[in-house]
Amino acid sequence: MSGYEKPSRGWGFCALSPVLLSLLMAAPLGLLGEETRQLFEFDSTNMSDAASRPLGKSYPPYSLANFSWNNITDSLDPATLSATFRGHPIRDPTGAFTNGSLAFRVQAFSTSGRPAQPPRLLHSADTCQLEVALVGASPRGNRSLFGLEVATLGQGPGCPSMQEQHSIDDEYTPAVFQLDQLLWGSLPSGFMQWRPVAFSQKRGSRDSAMPCQSSPLHPTLAYLLPQSPIVRAFFKTQDHSCAFNLTFGASTGPGYWDQHYLSWSVLLGVGTPPVDALSPLVLGIMAVALGAPALMLLAGGLFLLLGRKRDSEYQSIN
Ligand SMILES: *[C@@H]1O[C@H](CO)[C@@H](O)[C@H](O)[C@H]1NC(C)=O
Ligand SMILES: *[C@@H]1O[C@H](CO)[C@@H](O)[C@H](O)[C@H]1NC(C)=O
Ligand SMILES: *[C@@H]1O[C@H](CO)[C@@H](O)[C@H](O)[C@H]1NC(C)=O
Ligand SMILES: *[C@@H]1O[C@H](CO)[C@@H](O)[C@H](O)[C@H]1NC(C)=O
Ligand SMILES: *[C@@H]1O[C@H](CO)[C@@H](O)[C@H](O)[C@H]1NC(C)=O
Ligand SMILES: *[C@@H]1O[C@H](CO)[C@@H](O)[C@H](O)[C@H]1NC(C)=O
Repeated sequence: MSGYEKPSRGWGFCALSPVLLSLLMAAPLGLLGEETRQLFEFDSTNMSDAASRPLGKSYPPYSLANFSWNNITDSLDPATLSATFRGHPIRDPTGAFTNGSLAFRVQAFSTSGRPAQPPRLLHSADTCQLEVALVGASPRGNRSLFGLEVATLGQGPGCPSMQEQHSIDDEYTPAVFQLDQLLWGSLPSGFMQWRPVAFSQKRGSRDSAMPCQSSPLHPTLAYLLPQSPIVRAFFKTQDHSCAFNLTFGASTGPGYWDQHYLSWSVLLGVGTPPVDALSPLVLGIMAVALGAPALMLLAGGLFLLLGRKRDSEYQSIN
């Protein structure tokens, strides 16, 4: 079947993404060595000023290095080109993860388009989307906010650059006008792109949208790359990592406490990131909005013209 070649091609490019490599390194299966990425939990109960100081008292973080992960082979789905790493802490004395898990779902794409679920990031062929979902774990506070430390590979002596893009178009992600991205300029160049929004329900909607804040990127100690043969194969000269924090939600809600659910998505790929064009709807609205004053000007001009003409007619009569 001709359909078979496309999927494998999709995975091939997607798997080269620096972020995905770091994620593989970070996690799942302990495949590529040790890491220090963590899942943070904060109590926002007494936070009165959520905007300026979004985080409250911090609980001891969950280190993903101390998670056990499912056998990814079981979750590989060739039809959707997806796979899920699902994990929980190996030692769970409080039983917080008895009914819960932290899942990383990776989906590769062989054509361009948008997923049905928000944030509906535009993807092109050979990119992949990573969805991080915390589901069913018992929070330690009544109003717990969660955060994630994301580690990536550095670039030369520095870190990849972080950019914020603003648009007037929120058709695909209601009320979110910002797109954040991390760009690796040099080879292997790559990107990571996300909307600053997470969702507190499986069916993401405006009602369940939580703000997602990212901290600046800092160089960190190398994540023991020597133990990571796959990563070293691609990043021979890069011996340091960079990390930043993402935090999800605000004390005012919606929050994880609603349904014990939190998901956040990011698009990963090599080369240049896809660029969101203005949607036809927004172009239409702009045409109307800009068009109406233009029409009025035109009408005004005609009126003036007619007025003048009449003036001159009167003059000629005199
Ligand atoms: C919140 O504030 C109240 C009153 O100041 C205090 O009694 C309570 O322990 C605080 N709760 C937390 C979780 O910090
Ligand atoms: C993993 O757990 C062990 C034992 O609880 C602890 O000594 C170690 O520091 C933990 N690792 C990380 C990276 O937190
Ligand atoms: C994962 O599962 C596959 C088949 O289900 C098996 O062949 C493989 O050995 C398993 N891997 C691990 C690490 O358990
Ligand atoms: C896990 O689920 C079972 C059955 O739904 C329930 O009885 C138990 O209290 C839950 N445990 C936790 C820690 O939420
Ligand atoms: C959560 O709220 C309940 C009832 O309001 C209270 O009894 C409990 O102490 C709170 N728990 C925490 C961890 O703040
Ligand atoms: C992320 O936040 C935690 C807790 O607030 C902090 O210990 C850690 O250094 C932060 N990491 C980065 C890369 O900013």
